[in-house]
Amino acid sequence: MNNIPKTINDKRSLKLHNNEQHPVCQLKHKIQSYFHDFTTFDNLSEVVSTKGNFDELLLPEDHPARSASDTYYLDSDQVLRTQTSAHQNELLKQGHKQFIVTGDVYRKDTIDRTHYPVFHQMEVVKILPKGTDALADLKETLSGLITYLYPGKTYRFLDDYFPFTDPSIQIEVYQDQEWMEVLGAGVVHPTILKNCSIDATGWAFGLGLDRLVLSYCDIPDIRYLWTTDERFINQFKEGLVPFREYSKYPPVYKDISFWVNNYRDNREGGWSMYNDFCEIIREEGTDLIEAVALQDRYEKGGRTSLSYRIAYRSAERTLSNEEINRIQQKIRDVLSQRFDVELR
Ligand code: PHE
Repeated sequence: MNNIPKTINDKRSLKLHNNEQHPVCQLKHKIQSYFHDFTTFDNLSEVVSTKGNFDELLLPEDHPARSASDTYYLDSDQVLRTQTSAHQNELLKQGHKQFIVTGDVYRKDTIDRTHYPVFHQMEVVKILPKGTDALADLKETLSGLITYLYPGKTYRFLDDYFPFTDPSIQIEVYQDQEWMEVLGAGVVHPTILKNCSIDATGWAFGLGLDRLVLSYCDIPDIRYLWTTDERFINQFKEGLVPFREYSKYPPVYKDISFWVNNYRDNREGGWSMYNDFCEIIREEGTDLIEAVALQDRYEKGGRTSLSYRIAYRSAERTLSNEEINRIQQKIRDVLSQRFDVELR
């Protein structure tokens, strides 16, 4: 049942959000000081029950987020939290009325410059007296927060859907010529309030710290957040300042092509096993993997041919062709052992 690979397990002790020099931790403090009268929880375990992460948040039984190809399970009842919302119910039951949970969260995911299977969220929850317009209070709070984080920038509210809030909204900020999703939010679902014996109303929102740090400090690749190279962390001694890339070594591209039998086009990567495929690539290539992108796809004789381009790049050194060929061969071996595919 346990589907947590080594590279993910190795990340569990790092807790970037509690490493005072790290920009993720610095942004946490900046947001916590905006909500200075909220109780903060920075050390809740990343291992949570499926009850807290899914059931108590009213996630349907058949929701894809529950599947082992989206979520890391320790056993059938425990997961690495996929969202800090996993702590909402326990803390509300303990009687907390306004609190912030910061923590590392885990999701199997695609590979590119802004996605990493471990990232950091802040969950902010506030209970308000019965009869209060919780949505209006939420929007006012969020407008204040965005103005504080992004003075002078344009932002907008959009409708969204989360099973544990109703209504649900999100905020996007206009940044570098595009809209960037900053947080998901909503009015706490009445069923959750009832389950926690709370006769009042309230709101909650969840914000991803990593992508905000990238945009805040102009960091071009999320893997920098995990580097042990001192040239990264030393740049943030003075605060959340713009990052200067210390070097840019060339990428190495390798293609991998194969036939699959039961292709279903229900994933971002164009294939139902895409997340598991990305995980194999990450396990073998570790943080040398910069991106995996679908290059080509066609059908023939009831089968589907898929071709992906893997970009390898290190921030620390030039990669040798031999080294990358070895990794690429390992990926091919593991792929053909574990998946129902025919390599080409
Ligand atoms: N947990 C949600 C997510 O990870 C964000 C969220 C938190 C939405 C609280 C609503 C309320 O996307």
